[in-house]
Amino acid sequence: MAIGPAGEHDGRMVYADVFARSIDDPEGFWGEAAQAVTWTKAPDRVLDSGNPPFYRWFPGGELNTCHNALDRHVEAGHGDRPALIYDSPVTGTRRTLTYGELRDQVARFAGVLRSMGVARGDRVVVYMPMVPEAVVAMLACARLGAVHSVVFGGFAPKELAIRIDDARPKVIVCASCGIEPSRVVAYKPMVDAALELAEHRPDGCVVFQREQAVAELGPRDLDWDKAMAAAEPAECVPVAATDPLYILYTSGTTGRPKGVVRDNGGHAVALLWSMRAIYDIRPGEVFWAASDVGWVVGHSYIVYAPLLLGATTVLYEGKPVGTPDAGAFWRVISDYGVNALFTAPTAFRAIKRDDPGATLLRREAISSLRTLFLAGERLDPDTYHWASEKLGVPVVDHWWQTETGWPVAANMRGLAPMPIKPGSPTVPVPGYDVRVLAPGGRECAPGEEGAICIKLPLPPGTLPTLWQDDERYVASYLTAFPGYYLTGDGGYVDEDGYLYVMGRTDDVINVAGHRLSTGSMEAVLSAHPAVAECAVIGVADELKGQVPRGFVVLKSGAEVDPATLRAELVQAVRDQVGAVAAFKRVDIVAALPKTRSGKILRKTMRGIAEGADEPVPSTIEDARVLDALRETLRGAT
Ligand code: COA
Ligand code: AMP
Repeated sequence: MAIGPAGEHDGRMVYADVFARSIDDPEGFWGEAAQAVTWTKAPDRVLDSGNPPFYRWFPGGELNTCHNALDRHVEAGHGDRPALIYDSPVTGTRRTLTYGELRDQVARFAGVLRSMGVARGDRVVVYMPMVPEAVVAMLACARLGAVHSVVFGGFAPKELAIRIDDARPKVIVCASCGIEPSRVVAYKPMVDAALELAEHRPDGCVVFQREQAVAELGPRDLDWDKAMAAAEPAECVPVAATDPLYILYTSGTTGRPKGVVRDNGGHAVALLWSMRAIYDIRPGEVFWAASDVGWVVGHSYIVYAPLLLGATTVLYEGKPVGTPDAGAFWRVISDYGVNALFTAPTAFRAIKRDDPGATLLRREAISSLRTLFLAGERLDPDTYHWASEKLGVPVVDHWWQTETGWPVAANMRGLAPMPIKPGSPTVPVPGYDVRVLAPGGRECAPGEEGAICIKLPLPPGTLPTLWQDDERYVASYLTAFPGYYLTGDGGYVDEDGYLYVMGRTDDVINVAGHRLSTGSMEAVLSAHPAVAECAVIGVADELKGQVPRGFVVLKSGAEVDPATLRAELVQAVRDQVGAVAAFKRVDIVAALPKTRSGKILRKTMRGIAEGADEPVPSTIEDARVLDALRETLRGAT
């Protein structure tokens, strides 16, 4: 049954009109939206579709994203408005930076980078925890027209090294440490270890020292504070709308991450539009995305979108539980008058687990909150109902991915609120011509499951390509169904046009809202001298949504103690992929189920691991292997 506040049914007509216009006349639609951006040179046209399947938004246009996010608000007289609220229960720190203060810091840090030789088009890798300096570093790159590539702090040195070698940064910016509730994580030694592994050599590294673990600096390292004190502020450098703003690596099917590129012009236009239309936020209001700057949610909705709009963003260095308790989110909402909260369902599952009755929540204290937005993984009905009931505000599931940079399907709270159907992220957002396709390209009937695709061109703000790899971009996303972008998710559309996302159709898994590749974990397992072959699959987990689970086949004659081997493999994944993978479980099996052509039957394994009565595929090489696997799993659970 559809539920939602009274009057929301009207949203459907508004939505239908706006959506139709965005698809029938994308140039008119996005040309209008582009007027909210300050351009130093107006675009020659809105969309260049002269070279399909590559599309470019706002060619000929010039702008600076940092100017749009900071300077223009200061110039408009809003220099005293809070831009960023830093709340860090793990260090006991709170700090508010106004637009004027943030602009000054960013200009100064841009001066630091410039003095190190960073110029338009150069890459800068940022490896930092949730501190304001991470935001300063990102915006300083944007100010110079340089391209940042932020790497999530939970990734291990090897993953960092892969990204350094692909992005080839001139400079690395890092903090001395990050602070997890259970331990201080020294970041600088991880950067040093990554540089040992990487072939590329950056010119230098700026280190933001934190008192919890001060780093030792080498000859090519610069202390953040000292460099800032000596720097001259730098002005904004106008760049082409089509120039890259950032590269964000994301997990693909293989162990090699994909460098998703974001341009400047389309990004600014789309994010600004989304803040009002989807999130229903106005300048001066408080928006909190409880994620991490290392993920796309952090890039788009902690850093860029709220600032482009002139809203106040909250940067929270803590967890939903344990810092200090399951009331942490309610405290932050109440302390800063948060109007909309965006997080992953797993955060709410953690709160619900620790405080099922929400005894730490007082509705009056969170009266500023209008909406809860959830994304990053499937929103399970229990969590949806719990959050709706306890918070008393609309709980909006919305679906998107690193590649798109902003929501593909949502309930557009600022444009056309619609009835909520639990289990569905509602409808395609204007600009996204979502189609569910069956093998061969036929469009699925309502209710029929298929591959969720988006008819080209994708709207502004989405990836124009992968970093220096047009071929991989086309092969990964545009080849399965020519003329369409393949999202990698499967699902269906119902009779009312509501989309249902059922999960990935590839080997990408989602662990506590963190996107990970099983391929990168398999690469670690198979490197162990005793392992002949292996498979890693994602299995359902009550808290994290999914967790990885490994299976290894030993080399013949390998003499190992099973418990020791298991512990070594778990540690190896932690050391080489990162703690964030939450890889805790691996079984030794006699063989892996395969097709006759040698392909591992991961989907079948997933089903068995989750206890489903999985049918034996007709393509299987040896059905007895499945029986043995069932036995192993039965014995292990
Ligand atoms: N730097 C270093 N280590 C990190 C890290 C970082 N930035 N982020 C996480 N880790 C480590 C954690 O310390 C933990 O290590 P451990 O195995 O030693 O305990 C491991 O990676 C897993 O971390 P996490 O995914 O945070 O799981 P958790 O069990 O500590 O907490 C939740 C579970 C649900 C509370 C937590 O995942 C959470 O807050 N999720 C919110 C969702 C979210 O932010 N998603 C982002 C996309 S919107
Ligand atoms: P990321 O690129 O890290 O944002 O992860 C994107 C993937 O997370 C998507 O391809 C989906 O598999 C999953 N995802 C994100 N949001 C949702 C959602 N609302 N419902 C279901 N899955 C989601």
